[in-house]
Amino acid sequence: MKKEILKIKDLYVSVNGKKILNGLNFSLNEGDIQVVMGPNGSGKSTFAEVLMGSFEYTVDSGEILLFQKDIKDLQSYKRAKMGLFLAFQHPIEVPGVNFGAFLHSAYKSIKNEDISIFEFIIKLKREAKNLGIEESFISRNLNEGLSGGEKKRMEILQIAVLKPKVVILDEIDSGLDIDGIKFVSNSINLLNSQGVSFIIITHQRKLLDSIEIDKVNLMHKGAIVKSSDETLIKDIEKRGYRDILKYE
Ligand SMILES: Nc1ncnc2c1ncn2[C@@H]1O[C@H](COP(=O)(O)OP(=O)(O)O)[C@@H](O)[C@H]1O
Ligand SMILES: [Mg+2]
Repeated sequence: MKKEILKIKDLYVSVNGKKILNGLNFSLNEGDIQVVMGPNGSGKSTFAEVLMGSFEYTVDSGEILLFQKDIKDLQSYKRAKMGLFLAFQHPIEVPGVNFGAFLHSAYKSIKNEDISIFEFIIKLKREAKNLGIEESFISRNLNEGLSGGEKKRMEILQIAVLKPKVVILDEIDSGLDIDGIKFVSNSINLLNSQGVSFIIITHQRKLLDSIEIDKVNLMHKGAIVKSSDETLIKDIEKRGYRDILKYE
């Protein structure tokens, strides 16, 4: 049996007194690729942010267990050290900061590894090559002047070099063309074969078509109301959320 690495028990979360997550339960096994779908405003991004430890959100009750340890009071960087990675819907631009240098310092602090910039760049180039990303990316600035597709490539490259245990992708496919979507799905498969587990938040079936999915979770009003195999994706596409969830 596969090892359970993440478990969320009866999680209640609010922002400025507004209740957003209402008794969310979730479980992820080592090596899983799971999908979270649900109508706009159902709480998917909140779920991702709370997992990463965004300070905007208040956990009112419940547990977030990563490797059996409750992380709900841990700061984001400690969660990252434990192996969590959140890819944002709109990655930030940091003008003047070189991508390779930025990732080198992030890598050293997250991995507790004293690797020289020289060795690190070699490693980064190797990972870029594996993914089919141009080497010239590495010497560019962090997300500065990059197209949407290029930002996603940088993000995937970060995952490849950091090799986190659990990655949460929040609509990483939004605004990508077909080649961009293919790149992301191929990368997910490659990284998964290297031991990275994924929680993929998406509306697009195209991204999921060539990925072997362990579980599809349907979110509604701040809770996961249904979990099933990948047939649920087709069902959602055919019938729509309104019909499946029976709401007005
Ligand atoms: N920082 C915030 N302040 C106020 N309301 C928020 C905040 N973040 C999320 N919400 C509200 O919580 C609900 C769920 O939002 P979100 O998690 O972004 O949903 P989804 O990603 O599924 O579209 C929405 O009603 C949204 O307006
Ligand atoms: Mg969202």
